[in-house]
Amino acid sequence: MLRLIHATDPAWGARAVEQLVPEILLDHAHLEKKAAAAAVGLMFRYPDQPALMTPLSRLAREELAHFEEVLAVLERRGVTFGRLKPSGYAERLSRVVRREEPGRLLDALLVAAFIEARSCERMQLLADNLTDPQLSKLYRGLLAAEARHHGIYVSLARQLCGPEAVDDRLPDIAAHEAEVVRALPIEPRLHSN
Ligand SMILES: [Fe+2]
Ligand SMILES: [Fe+2]
Repeated sequence: MLRLIHATDPAWGARAVEQLVPEILLDHAHLEKKAAAAAVGLMFRYPDQPALMTPLSRLAREELAHFEEVLAVLERRGVTFGRLKPSGYAERLSRVVRREEPGRLLDALLVAAFIEARSCERMQLLADNLTDPQLSKLYRGLLAAEARHHGIYVSLARQLCGPEAVDDRLPDIAAHEAEVVRALPIEPRLHSN
């Protein structure tokens, strides 16, 4: 797993579980949809990078399957899917992306890797803290895929931008990610403090 500089306070899991239904679940549904959109967005932004196409297309399909899974859980619990104010995590994290190529592609892939790694870390905390068997099963099931996703983005970055460029840039993005997480408000979001 990518090393996250700032480890989430273990109390986050207990707090998230208390507030879990419905806001965390609703937030989670939005995140799965956004993860799919991010992958498809990269496919459109880089049509000249054929190596991105199949891995990102598969990843996007997997995220949409997760989205449908979470939607089904929401429905079973009588929660209507609707608009939710985003946590600001992804938007703040993305400010680190350079405007010029080839830095832009490298940064976009590494930012996506960190979003996946942080989601994976949070889902692990949820799975560990949930007492509801249906929800705990949902998160355990999703974890395996999420654990793979950040690795896919890092491998694509290594393949397309070179391992040295990745090793040089990774510590900066990791430090920025830790700073962004520390500054987030405490609220019922998957990406919150
Ligand atoms: Fe997912
Ligand atoms: Fe993912």
